[in-house]
Amino acid sequence: MKITVSVIKADIGSVGGHIAPSQKLLDTVKRHVAEKGKGLLIDSYVSYTGDDIAILMTHTKGEGNEQVHKLAWDAFVSGTAVAKQQGLYGAGQDLLKDAFSGNVHGMGPAVTEMEFEERPGEPILFFAADKTDPGAYNFPLYLAFADAMNTPGLMLSPKLAKGFKFVIMDVNYTEGDRVIELNAPEDMYDIATLLRDPEQYVVESVWSRAAGTQAVSVATSRLHNIAGKYTGKDDPVMLVRSQMDFPATGEVLQPFAVGHFVAGCMRGSHNMPIMPVKLNTTISYFDGPPVVSCATFCIRDGKLTEAIDAFDHPFWDRVRNHVADKAMDMRKQGFFGAAMLPMNELEYTGIMEKLAVLEKRFAVRAMRKAA
Ligand code: F6R
Ligand code: MG
Ligand code: MG
Repeated sequence: MKITVSVIKADIGSVGGHIAPSQKLLDTVKRHVAEKGKGLLIDSYVSYTGDDIAILMTHTKGEGNEQVHKLAWDAFVSGTAVAKQQGLYGAGQDLLKDAFSGNVHGMGPAVTEMEFEERPGEPILFFAADKTDPGAYNFPLYLAFADAMNTPGLMLSPKLAKGFKFVIMDVNYTEGDRVIELNAPEDMYDIATLLRDPEQYVVESVWSRAAGTQAVSVATSRLHNIAGKYTGKDDPVMLVRSQMDFPATGEVLQPFAVGHFVAGCMRGSHNMPIMPVKLNTTISYFDGPPVVSCATFCIRDGKLTEAIDAFDHPFWDRVRNHVADKAMDMRKQGFFGAAMLPMNELEYTGIMEKLAVLEKRFAVRAMRKAA
């Protein structure tokens, strides 16, 4: 059966700053999806990661379907009313447009969708990150789909050995979707050249070259490109299909044990290590650290199993402690060097204004000439 999995997520308000949505807000979104999704959706799963609420939906309407997108948009609009009533911080902040028009692309919420023919066994991984941007997935995707040191399946499985196609988007281009297709393994160094700059070049999707089927879909939208200014970090969601023609679930998860440094946390303006966390985890230290959760499912005729939490295992406690140490080490250097993002990625304009004032106070001294 051909089904579509659509994930639409937004920050529409949170308790205690940027920590988590209120229970009432979450319940409102869940109720809306359950009631209005009848007859449209096959199944759904509503969860939060930090201050973001994600609505995962299965259906047969294909990608970018107006009814499905409107359902999620309306759920966020009704949630926003509750967020306002409760005085939540940033109520409705990711709903950047007043009226729904066709689909939610370019309206603030992040979207990732995949339409595929169900395999006899269909494992799917749903990642949600908070306090970071879509480039945060570049590192784990490169390792999982292009590096045999991480993914022995690239050597062991004849299907995986044919490699994967990476579709990479230039997210700073705003006139349309500027994308390039590159094949691993032969284009490895070109893929690396782009993915090393995760603020501009972002993996949008990954495809099996043996089967021609899609393995990965990432929400690539950047809020500041939509709003013309920073309105918060993008907090990306991602869908990954695993096993058979694709890397094993463990090969997809392993890179997250590194706790790689990503853009995000405190005022959206710092580099910090990303921590793999349990489902429905809040935000804390230094408005961070950036977090990523992973709910795994199997799907049959569009029906989801219960969500199994990929990072709820004793192994990941050790990783979390290590990432906490990395985070505190980075914070020791405050605003210096690598701790803070470059000027064009800062979420506030204060530094640019200060620089403009200081600019006028610079004086050029005559050069001392050698005798
Ligand atoms: C992401 C997030 C941050 C904030 C940023 C600025 O979930 O919450 O990117 O948007 O820290 O927020 P203010 O200025 O509202 O504290
Ligand atoms: Mg937020
Ligand atoms: Mg967020």
